Amino acid sequence: MVVNFKDTVKLPVIMAPMFLVSSPKMVIEGCKAGVIGSFPLLNARTGADLEQWFEQITTELAEFNAQNPSNQAAPWAVNFMSHPSNHRFEEDLQLIKKYQPPIVISSLGDPSPVVSAVHSYGGLVFADVINLFFAQKAADKGVDGLILVCNGAGGHAGTLNPMAFIGAVKEFWNGYTILSGCISNGKDILAAEVLGADFAFIGTRFIPAHESLASEGYDQMLIESSMDDLIYTDVFSGVKANYLKPSIVKAGLDPNNLGEKGDLSYSRENRTVKAWKDIWSAGQGVHSIKKTQSTVEIITEMKEGYSEARNKLFVAQT
Ligand SMILES: Cc1cc2nc3c(=O)[nH]c(=O)nc-3n(C[C@H](O)[C@H](O)[C@H](O)COP(=O)(O)O)c2cc1C
Repeated sequence: MVVNFKDTVKLPVIMAPMFLVSSPKMVIEGCKAGVIGSFPLLNARTGADLEQWFEQITTELAEFNAQNPSNQAAPWAVNFMSHPSNHRFEEDLQLIKKYQPPIVISSLGDPSPVVSAVHSYGGLVFADVINLFFAQKAADKGVDGLILVCNGAGGHAGTLNPMAFIGAVKEFWNGYTILSGCISNGKDILAAEVLGADFAFIGTRFIPAHESLASEGYDQMLIESSMDDLIYTDVFSGVKANYLKPSIVKAGLDPNNLGEKGDLSYSRENRTVKAWKDIWSAGQGVHSIKKTQSTVEIITEMKEGYSEARNKLFVAQT
């Protein structure tokens, strides 16, 4: 039987993978609450750590499902960096085959190797893309879902407007469509569905979850920041991403004078600060963050807002 992943969730949400932020506990709590939880494989420092994370997630979710036959956890997902610069490319691919996450999110690079590994055990591959060219390319490589990373997103955001992007992709794409960028509450999730998305892909809103790996300083900065505090630059990783200006100032740098593309990247010698670790990322949805909360509290709020918005629409239409 072909599983429709839309039927396996209680809210059409994927908790987006976030480098140095997503934790196994977040994934487990998210899945138990009925949304798809995910993490970047490289958040586990070594292959041995990763194997432990896989054990923890699969064991805890299996226990939960055994105890709750009529309230099964949503599927879980991992994020695989499909770029050749991924130093654990082969090792992580083998672990994916062993632990068989139902969904693998491929980023940065040709998804072909991960598509053949994941399809061999019946899993799905979603690829994140920032424009039509990459969307078409990923579709041609046989992925099952396209994650459209739009303007204002946290991390390596695109520049396209979500309405224009999803409309254009839908002209050639019949697979799972996932919308990403500044989706923060139940109303936004419903809006993504109205535009034609199967799932909303949500990152920033989950950074200050109690179970995340983000530091207290990061949480506090998110609470105090607004969308005006972001800078979209390629100076730190060579690829444009959204960062919190106050974290740049805190690291002793001048946000108005950072240099050229890649000047402050990991690969440069003599770097004193590291993107993601010292320089913190957030999307324009940062505005919605007012306090730290548990993963379950955030999802509960989203479910309530989603029902409320649906009811309003329904009443408006009758
Ligand atoms: C701190 C942070 C780290 C991220 N790390 C990754 C990553 O490792 N891999 C990835 O595919 N996307 C990463 N992203 C992007 C998210 O998966 C997602 O596309 C984005 O957060 C969605 O936009 P939003 O933050 O506005 O909800 C990251 C985003 C943030 C904010």
